[in-house]
Amino acid sequence: MPKFNDFDMENWKELTDIDTGSLWIIERRDNIGKHRGFYHGNFVPQIPRHFIKRFTKLGDVVLDPFMGSGTTAYECETLDRDFVGIDIKPEMIAYVRERLNEQALLYEGDSTDEKVFDTICADLQKHNRKNVQLVVLHPPYFDILKFSDNPKDLSNAKNLDEFKSSFALVVNNCIKLLENGRYLVVVIGDKYSKGQWHPLGFYCMNECMNLGLTLKSIIVKNMDGNRAKQGKNDIWRYRALSSDYYLFKHEYILLFKKG
Ligand SMILES: C[S@@+](CC[C@H](N)C(=O)[O-])C[C@H]1O[C@@H](n2cnc3c(N)ncnc32)[C@H](O)[C@@H]1O
Repeated sequence: MPKFNDFDMENWKELTDIDTGSLWIIERRDNIGKHRGFYHGNFVPQIPRHFIKRFTKLGDVVLDPFMGSGTTAYECETLDRDFVGIDIKPEMIAYVRERLNEQALLYEGDSTDEKVFDTICADLQKHNRKNVQLVVLHPPYFDILKFSDNPKDLSNAKNLDEFKSSFALVVNNCIKLLENGRYLVVVIGDKYSKGQWHPLGFYCMNECMNLGLTLKSIIVKNMDGNRAKQGKNDIWRYRALSSDYYLFKHEYILLFKKG
């Protein structure tokens, strides 16, 4: 099996920070270093950190096409991996640019757009690189949280079908840049509307599988500490009990392999 990380398997018992189970209970967000956690809709740094350590080697390139406040970017910097990030919001590009090393490639653009990826490909070639070795995708959970007014923003998709097809376009663009035999990870939660549970995680999983990626794992992660619901537990519990629904306590981390 080709090596896709720098683990010292002679001393595998020392790799205590690498959870190999499919249920992750992360007690609290790790806000050390450049992480601020201010961005509504960000993920905890422990997620990209795990996948960078487990599925890349020193000097590999990591792509995040929904970069947001740069959580993946700061982890790459700390772990000496190169970073390529895209976000549709110019202010997030400016924010991360200010905090990050100069080598990182950041693009203000729409990740469904093939042309953005052509530019990235050309820029990577200038650095003698052909591919990226890991893709981390943390898309909007459809329209749960609106990120911008841009119609190409996935949180502004007109309906579920448009969300799914836009997500598939992004994944397809990423696959073309991903080295064969390497990994792509999607972090996504479900949504509830009009009395119905919408399994966004499973929809996105299907899109990835339809594009030929091999599903390697479905990790279920706890969602405690969701900012929107902080301090309102009693209200939500009352509402659930007086109706027929369940409160979201988990989201998905879907791991795929190319080739
Ligand atoms: C869930 S957030 C990602 C948060 C990020 N993981 C963090 O920790 O800060 C999703 C991001 O995707 C961006 N986005 C939405 N649609 C996009 C598109 N078509 N192309 C590029 N970025 C997009 C949003 O602006 C938002 O910053």
